[in-house]
Amino acid sequence: MDVLGDSHIHQKKGRRLILFPLPLQGHINPMLQLANILYSKGFSITIIHTNFNSPNPSNYPHFTFCSIEDSLSETEASTADLVALLSLLNVQCVVPFRNCLAKLLSNVEEEEKEPIACLITDATWYFTQAVAESLKLSRIVLRTNSVSSFLVFAAFPVLSQKGYFPIRDSQSEAPVPELPPLRVKDIPVVETCYRETLHRLVTEATNQMKVSSGCIWNSLQDLELASLTKFHQDFPIPMFPIGPFHKFFSASSSSLLAHDQTSISWLDKQTPKSVIYVSFGSIAAINETEFLEVAWGLANSKVPFLWVVRPGLVRGAEWIEPLPQGFLETLDGRGHMVKWAPQQEVLAHPATGGFWTHCGWNSTLESICEGVPMICQPCFGDQMVNARYVSDVWKVGLHLERKLERGEVERTIRRVMTEAEGQEIRVRIMILKEKLNLCLIQGGSSYQSLESLISYILSF
Ligand code: UDX
Repeated sequence: MDVLGDSHIHQKKGRRLILFPLPLQGHINPMLQLANILYSKGFSITIIHTNFNSPNPSNYPHFTFCSIEDSLSETEASTADLVALLSLLNVQCVVPFRNCLAKLLSNVEEEEKEPIACLITDATWYFTQAVAESLKLSRIVLRTNSVSSFLVFAAFPVLSQKGYFPIRDSQSEAPVPELPPLRVKDIPVVETCYRETLHRLVTEATNQMKVSSGCIWNSLQDLELASLTKFHQDFPIPMFPIGPFHKFFSASSSSLLAHDQTSISWLDKQTPKSVIYVSFGSIAAINETEFLEVAWGLANSKVPFLWVVRPGLVRGAEWIEPLPQGFLETLDGRGHMVKWAPQQEVLAHPATGGFWTHCGWNSTLESICEGVPMICQPCFGDQMVNARYVSDVWKVGLHLERKLERGEVERTIRRVMTEAEGQEIRVRIMILKEKLNLCLIQGGSSYQSLESLISYILSF
């Protein structure tokens, strides 16, 4: 499918865009995909990035990269407390970012380079709005999560007023009437020592987005129309749902970890739709007991599995050493474990029949676009909302609702992989997949949004 239409003609627009990704895998991927999309539409691209989790410039010879000093110490440069990390970055990057941007702008004047049309930053970089304004540059925000989950974060002040925080019963099935179809247990929680800071981070990002020049979504009308409509009522700024980005460009070149290609050679030996792929993304962590419940649930299901155990997934362990000795050997080749997989290729592989996922937004979109039914295991933040939409709104996956327990895991895997229920889910997700593909081709909603975004940028 030529989703970029006439992109190969590559008309130079004579304008440069400055992009500033948040240095986390689930945010770097969509920002660099967006950079590629806009490059293919004729814009020149400069990426400003932190030293922490820096992308690899050699994978993007067509972009200019500018590194800024984030001054994070070794202990600060950790995703163990995301709230602490993100609020610190929003303080420590102000001066270096401002200097870098000012220099890029003055280079244009001195060296008569192509003009800079605008700045595109991850929404979490809330400090960049004031910097952009002071330098008289327009700022467009990229939101890398779903619109539906954003609306829940935006509702934090209301939820707070109504006494939902702190969440007293994190297992509560009670509905949240302000945000259907959510239940109390779906309200995003992020484990942190700085709960007040989390609320401030959310509020700042939301407020600074409200006064930005617009918002790009890695989502699409045909998936989130109701939420986009609500967003537009509450945030009357131009919005551009142009996703899913990974259908234009794969995320492989922005991966911070090396992809283990044995994932694919192992899948090649399996029968069609027989394998459950398991990955909880780039940040989520589980404890050793949960890890063993996952392992035994997988083993007892008798379904072949490809399992990504990222170093750091199991708290306190290096990698898979908590497994009982000989665990993999007893499976007779029915299981394969890797540290990091080429996920998009795995999901597109004919042998993959299900995805047990933490429901990060990129993973959710990637799964839908390959028509792979999901088992939802949200761990924190927006994942809880995405999981509810997957299971209850789009009905393309089952929710592992209770605590991780091997019997429950085994039953849920069987329901998705071998029973009629899984077959019904597969039919629904294939229909959704086809619908999403149509959004990207000429006349489709994302295609049209991308055209509007380009005209809008050129109007600055
Ligand atoms: C984080 C948050 O957890 C998530 O909720 C938010 O929406 C984005 O930031 P993350 O854990 O990184 O997400 O998950 P996700 O959004 O799914 O992104 C992970 C990316 O890494 C995907 O693009 C996926 O293809 C890639 N990946 C994952 C790999 O390339 N290999 C793997 O083994 C696992």
